[in-house]
Amino acid sequence: MAEVTVVTHPLVQHKLSIMRDKETSTASFRRLLREISLLLCYEVTRDLELTHKTIETPMEQMEAPTLKGKKLVFASILRAGNGLLEGMLDLVPSARVAHVGLYRDHETLEAVEYYYKAPADLGDRVVVAVDPMLATANSASLAVDKLKRSGAKNLRFLCLLAAPEGIKAFQEAHPDVPIFTAALDSHLNENGYIVPGLGDAGDRMYGTK
Ligand code: PRP
Ligand code: URA
Repeated sequence: MAEVTVVTHPLVQHKLSIMRDKETSTASFRRLLREISLLLCYEVTRDLELTHKTIETPMEQMEAPTLKGKKLVFASILRAGNGLLEGMLDLVPSARVAHVGLYRDHETLEAVEYYYKAPADLGDRVVVAVDPMLATANSASLAVDKLKRSGAKNLRFLCLLAAPEGIKAFQEAHPDVPIFTAALDSHLNENGYIVPGLGDAGDRMYGTK
C-alpha cells in the first residue's frame, strides 16, 4: 500500500488554520490556498529523480544536478483543484496540465464527469492529481481512474484535507498511488462533508455561496 504523508510544516498548518476559519474572506482563502500549494508541491516533488548535465559557471565547468525525464503533469480536479494548481505552476512553470471536470451529486455523493483533457504522453511522466478535498474519495478515485486509462502509471494524489473514510476508499481503489495532505480530519458528516473541515472548498474559493 502506498504511503499517506501528512505535511506538518508549521507554515502549512498556520495557513490552513486561517483557511478553516469561517470568517476568512474569499480573497484571503484563495491567496492562502495558492501559498500553501507551493509548500505542498515542495513535498510532493521531494523524491523526483535527478540527472546531471555539464555546465560552465563563471568559475569552472561542473556536473550540475537537473530533473530527470519528461516534464511533470499536474492534473487539476475541477473546480477547486485549480486553487492548488496555480501555486504549483508558480513553482514548476514548465509542468504540463490535465483538467478533470467532476462535480459531486449532492444526493448520491457520486462524482459526475463533465470534462476531460490531458497531455497525450501521460505514461512517460510523473502525474500529480490535485484537489483540496478528499471526502468520500469518489471524485479523486474517478479522476485517477481516468488518468490511468489515459496511460498514467506514476501517480500521486495531493490534497489539503482528507477524511479517514476517503483515505480508506482511495487506498482500496488505488493502492499504488501515494497521498499527500496537509491534514487528516476527524470524519465525514451525514452530508459527506469533512469535519471539522473548511466547508465547501469551491464555494469558499470563488464566493459562490
Ligand atoms: C468537491 C471537492 C472535491 C470533492 C470531494 O468538489 O473539490 O472534488 O468535492 O468530495 P468527494 O471526495 O466526496 O468526492 P465539488 O463536487 O463540490 O465541485 P467543485 O470543485 O466544482 O466545487
Ligand atoms: N467537498 C468539499 O468542498 N468539502 C467537503 O467537506 C467535502 C467535499
